[in-house]
Amino acid sequence: MSKPKVLVTRMIQQENIDRLREHFDVEINPDDRAYTKDELKQKIRGRDGVLSMLTDTIDGEVLDAAGPQCRIVANFAVGYNNFDVAAATKRGVILTNTPGVLDDATATHTITLLLSVARRIVEADKFVRAGKWGSWAPLFFMGLDVDGRTLGLAGAGRIGKNVARKAAAFGMKILYTDVKPDPDFEKSLGARFVDKATLLAESDYVTLHVPLIPATKHYIGEAELKAMKPTAVLINAARGPVVDEKALARALKDKVIWGAGLDVFENEPAVEPELLGLDNVIVVPHIASATPETRMNMGRIAVDNLLKVLTGGAPDTCVNP
Ligand code: DGY
Repeated sequence: MSKPKVLVTRMIQQENIDRLREHFDVEINPDDRAYTKDELKQKIRGRDGVLSMLTDTIDGEVLDAAGPQCRIVANFAVGYNNFDVAAATKRGVILTNTPGVLDDATATHTITLLLSVARRIVEADKFVRAGKWGSWAPLFFMGLDVDGRTLGLAGAGRIGKNVARKAAAFGMKILYTDVKPDPDFEKSLGARFVDKATLLAESDYVTLHVPLIPATKHYIGEAELKAMKPTAVLINAARGPVVDEKALARALKDKVIWGAGLDVFENEPAVEPELLGLDNVIVVPHIASATPETRMNMGRIAVDNLLKVLTGGAPDTCVNP
């Protein structure tokens, strides 16, 4: 009997490819870029399973191009806004993600951005490299205090709570919103559940952890930015469209808020050009989970899901309802 056919849409760590190859006939995208939609439709044809990336739109059109033998699309990501879940469910295709294994890396990255914006690390580095440093001075390169300040979590699932635990080491006070109140979280970290308006008004740092769904598109826009303190910092390592990037660029330029740290963007890999001219924002290319152990574990979960479903079992981390 011929082996099931699996498409891997970007190169992942070799150990995970080797596990796939033991059981399946595997094709891997050899290029250092995502497939275009037309390429994906062509490559996916006849595959029993796909290991996809967040850059691959998996909708009805793509699944129809795959054909009725396609049983699973396993995302190499916890977020799955690239999936049309209803279209896949209607076609009997199982969709999976990689929850849990990237909480530490993503939360550490969120704190890294927060500290780097607060202490103007990237701006200061550029200053030294440009040969502009004259001498030490008491009022030079002032940043913001972090210790004991207030952190507002918009969304507090696994990643948001992980950020809160790390922030507790800085004695930060924790507010949270847009998730169900969690008495254990409140007891362990003294976190306070508030409405969105209170969180925006009282937080010195606002970090975003909501998933991208229609209701969270532009969760932070002009009005929300105006509702924040002029000394506030916004960090987004969730999904780009959660923030209205043009409104954020205007707010940073006009000093409506103090600064921002962005790992994700509305139209990746494009970045709102106005942001790139500003010193009070740090921009990095969607790398929150980019550590060897984390990416290995994400690959392991995606491969486990493919192995289980294509041998007649149930996946570990299904996202279909
Ligand atoms: C995810 O997993 O959703 C991240 O955005 C990439 O690791």
